Amino acid sequence: KIVPVIMAGGKGTRLWPLSRATAPKQFIQFVGDKTLFQETLVRVSDPALYEAPVVVTNEDFRFLVAEQARELDIPLAAVLLEPVARNTAAAVAAAASLASEQFGKEAIIQMLASDHEILADQAYFDAIRTARDAALKGKLVTFGITPTEPATGYGYIEIGKQLPSGAHEVKRFVEKPAREKAEQMLAAGGFYWNSGIFMFPVAELLSEMQDYAPDVLKAAEKALSKAMRDLDFTRLDAEHFAKSPDISIDYAVMEKTSKAAVVPSAFRWSDMGSWDAVWKTGVQDENGNIAAANTTVVNTRNSLVMTHGVHLAVQGMDDVAVIASEDAVYVGPLKESQEVGKLVKLLAGQK
Ligand code: GDD
Ligand code: MG
Repeated sequence: KIVPVIMAGGKGTRLWPLSRATAPKQFIQFVGDKTLFQETLVRVSDPALYEAPVVVTNEDFRFLVAEQARELDIPLAAVLLEPVARNTAAAVAAAASLASEQFGKEAIIQMLASDHEILADQAYFDAIRTARDAALKGKLVTFGITPTEPATGYGYIEIGKQLPSGAHEVKRFVEKPAREKAEQMLAAGGFYWNSGIFMFPVAELLSEMQDYAPDVLKAAEKALSKAMRDLDFTRLDAEHFAKSPDISIDYAVMEKTSKAAVVPSAFRWSDMGSWDAVWKTGVQDENGNIAAANTTVVNTRNSLVMTHGVHLAVQGMDDVAVIASEDAVYVGPLKESQEVGKLVKLLAGQK
């Protein structure tokens, strides 16, 4: 069985003001009746395929994780708490070490982001099984999504020849390219977006980390061996964990390893990284709007209007995001959604 490892420690600043330091995007409801984190839990809840999940998150989010899992009655194998954020390489290194102790060295882990909107249909589970088979043969497996634009916020994978498992070799992994590079790759063809979901054989992952990111691995392993365990939580040791470099698994391992494989996938996937993505992913009305509860929208097209606070009324505007939380309102063109993170930095500086 696969051990799910859910990464739930990100900040999600581009979805301000709904995504906040105290409750980032993975823990909030956008369109459905579950949060993105809860949807992620549901995707790994088939007991025929999966063990109970390991969740890795920041100390600050421990109650959100515990509460949202309890709401769905989904038991967790472990909740690993990071004393400080050191990005995904350190988080997955700690989780992989834990999985190796708890489930054995032969364990296969599936690393999942908790901020994606995915349609978990037949195509999705076919891809998962293909990836598991490739991982059983020692590959570090990624899922490739057909790119539709030269996005700069994703990793790109150049696909190679097919392996017996059905997965493909990876010729190249390019994390978050500059615009020009992204355009070149799109024009050249043969490139996929990295979905941010990975299937790893624990032993191989740890040995690749030993080669390419030894400082990360050492910090994570020491932090785990000195961890404080109370009933529900495993608290990584702060002093050791803080020594890890701040680097993502993509840069630390995937760009460097020769053991990468990719499963080109046809399932519906969206990184809910920006308001633009939320608008594209949701169900739009006949005017192209997504107008959530507690809003009134008149003479407006192709816009996203959402509130968790005051009633919002929008009139005579096109292509905008109007988003209200309990104490802040954001208004901006949807096409500038990628820049909201910068605005948030500015706001943080002013406080
Ligand atoms: N536990 C923990 N600790 N989780 C973290 C941390 C951390 O320090 N930092 C990020 N995460 C979680 C986020 O909450 C998210 O679920 C996941 O890890 C990925 O982090 P993002 O910050 O969302 O990464 P990204 O979207 O910029 O890039 C990754 O995903 C893209 C697809 O969505 C990369 O893998 C890209 O290659 C990929 O294309
Ligand atoms: Mg993301």
